[in-house]
Amino acid sequence: MNIEFKKHLLAHNTFGIDSIAEEFAQIQTEDELMEVLQYANKNQTALHVMGGGSNILFVHDMKGIVLLNQLKGMQIAYEDKEVVHVKCMSGEVWHECVLWSVAHHVGGIENLSLIPGTIGAAPIQNIGAYGVELKDVFVELEAIHLHTLEKKIFTNQECAFAYRDSIFKTKEKGNYFILSVTMALSKQPICKTTYGTIQQELNEMQVDAVSIKSVSDAVIRIRRSKLPNPAEIGNAGSFFKNPEITTAHYEQLKNTYEDMPSFDTVNGKKIPAAWLIEKCGWKGYREGDFGVHNKQALVLVNYNHAKGSDILSLSEKIISSVQEKFSIQLEREVNIW
Ligand code: EPU
Repeated sequence: MNIEFKKHLLAHNTFGIDSIAEEFAQIQTEDELMEVLQYANKNQTALHVMGGGSNILFVHDMKGIVLLNQLKGMQIAYEDKEVVHVKCMSGEVWHECVLWSVAHHVGGIENLSLIPGTIGAAPIQNIGAYGVELKDVFVELEAIHLHTLEKKIFTNQECAFAYRDSIFKTKEKGNYFILSVTMALSKQPICKTTYGTIQQELNEMQVDAVSIKSVSDAVIRIRRSKLPNPAEIGNAGSFFKNPEITTAHYEQLKNTYEDMPSFDTVNGKKIPAAWLIEKCGWKGYREGDFGVHNKQALVLVNYNHAKGSDILSLSEKIISSVQEKFSIQLEREVNIW
């Protein structure tokens, strides 16, 4: 077991915030994980599990031990004529697994290309983009309880997946270390090209026969054109969730804002938070080193040396102004640590 003390986390989060972890351990094997968990439980030390750090905003230094998940490996757990079940260790980079699926012509996650972060983080917020969510291909995950050290398999249903949500953000928040995720990928994939501008992008790419490779390429091109690259400008993707409102509320707003976009849901309408934020005048806003991205208003950015607390206060101001103008309560998607 190798514990580092007073570890700077600047290189371990895509927002580029320099929080300091009291203790820090890189986890490369399950044995190392067990050892660190036993040590932490014996000393009653707080535990924080990190993957790619792509959905975290640090607002202060971290007490206790930060575990950096580096469990690697992928294997085919099951295969028949139609599907392949791929079991990926949780420290694998999500996009690497997408590239593997594209190279092996098995479909289901190509629309989720280029999402930052690790396999282990994917089920926590049920990552989604361009009409696909992880839950659509998810079979099961294996996790270990941080305190009882018991291993448990969670099925798709047991994860209680919802829009950017799962049991790991609610009832079981902070209780488990996810070890691996198994996904069912299709040998006869049906490409989903109807969402947003995928078809338009494929036309521009002059693609005749749509394949999982071309869909993946199209998604990569769209994301690169709209979302800031964390290696250049610190950010954690969408900072807020797209809010859902009742049909009555929607009708009332639509009278004033004829151009308001929306998506039908089971309970009402979902409104793009980016549109609400833009309408409140925040798009491209900059104060010192932090602000709102100028191409996608849902993304808050750190241009250089912003503090996490600055970005958090900016998010509070945005929430208030959207509440005031539209009577809609925005909810953060990013985890505040
Ligand atoms: N829009 C604006 N202003 C903007 C950007 C967008 O008004 O600055 C409006 C437009 O009407 C646009 C609509 O918002 O048509 C939707 O925009 P976009 O397709 O960019 O998607 P989004 O709803 O803003 C969601 C996800 C993204 C995901 C995209 C594509 C959430 C919180 N975000 O964003 O996920 O990539 O759809 O599927 O659901 C993430 O979770 O980190 C993330 C980037």
